[in-house]
Amino acid sequence: MITVRAPAKINLQLAVGPLRSDGYHELVSVFHAVDLCDEVTVAEAGDGVELVMSGEGAADLPVDDTNLAVRAARLLADHHGIEANVRIQITKAIPVAAGMAGGSADAAGVLVACDALWRTRTDRKTLVSLAATLGSDVPFALLGGTAIGTGRGEQLTPVLANGELYWVFAIADEGLSTPAVYAEFDRLNSAPAAPEVSIPLLQALRSGVADAVGNQLHNDLQPAAVKLRSNLGPLLDAGTDFGALGAVVCGSGPTCAFLVRDTEASIDLAVALTSTGLCRTVKRGSGPAQGVR
Ligand code: C5P
Repeated sequence: MITVRAPAKINLQLAVGPLRSDGYHELVSVFHAVDLCDEVTVAEAGDGVELVMSGEGAADLPVDDTNLAVRAARLLADHHGIEANVRIQITKAIPVAAGMAGGSADAAGVLVACDALWRTRTDRKTLVSLAATLGSDVPFALLGGTAIGTGRGEQLTPVLANGELYWVFAIADEGLSTPAVYAEFDRLNSAPAAPEVSIPLLQALRSGVADAVGNQLHNDLQPAAVKLRSNLGPLLDAGTDFGALGAVVCGSGPTCAFLVRDTEASIDLAVALTSTGLCRTVKRGSGPAQGVR
């Protein structure tokens, strides 16, 4: 039996460019892994892939072959020409359909855990390329830390970032569909520019000054997510009014991430945001977190 922990991600920057002919958008993302982790346990099983999920939002998720975690197990087994016989148990802490890449984290966790269970010794490069075929955010869940993603987000370069960043996450009642948010982005932006990484953000990360990082948070999908969810605008404003150093929608939303100075500030902001009634629940975390371990 093997257990791994797989981190959620947020995007400190998400610059979205034109729609490509393969249906994906060219993008530049500064990914940041946070210590909100799903736990993935795999164990020997006789016949096929069995998936059991528990925890945050698990009841709403499919456990058949449409689940990315099941596909990850099959993909690794196919790659090595072996039978995919495994029981996967996932305990979710990462909110579902929240823009924090929880499904991608689970898939990355299954790749690493099954590779250990089956003793298939997949080299890192192969594991990352298998991850990329599963989804744009899966390779980053393997890597963790803070990294620039290019292409559709799957080509990664680690970023030099100093210090720890403290976050409060405001989680909505209902998730948002990633394709729907990208489609809304297309409606709002007829000719998006080629995406470029923000140099001021990279400088702020290198300096380790949280205020500077807070000023540089930016997500091109935010207007689309705010348009689809009317409470997000007021929620982001509330966080800033309550003293957050920066506020940004996570990925395609609807989770909002608020950067704060330290643990104490995160407790204060979590209480204040809860009292607004603009979100379902509030979680606290810090980053950069390690990739799947
Ligand atoms: O790669 P993943 O399966 O996570 O992407 C989900 C959906 O998000 C895609 O089908 C696409 O609609 C949208 N997407 C995109 N451009 C990207 C990444 C995702 O349009 N770079």
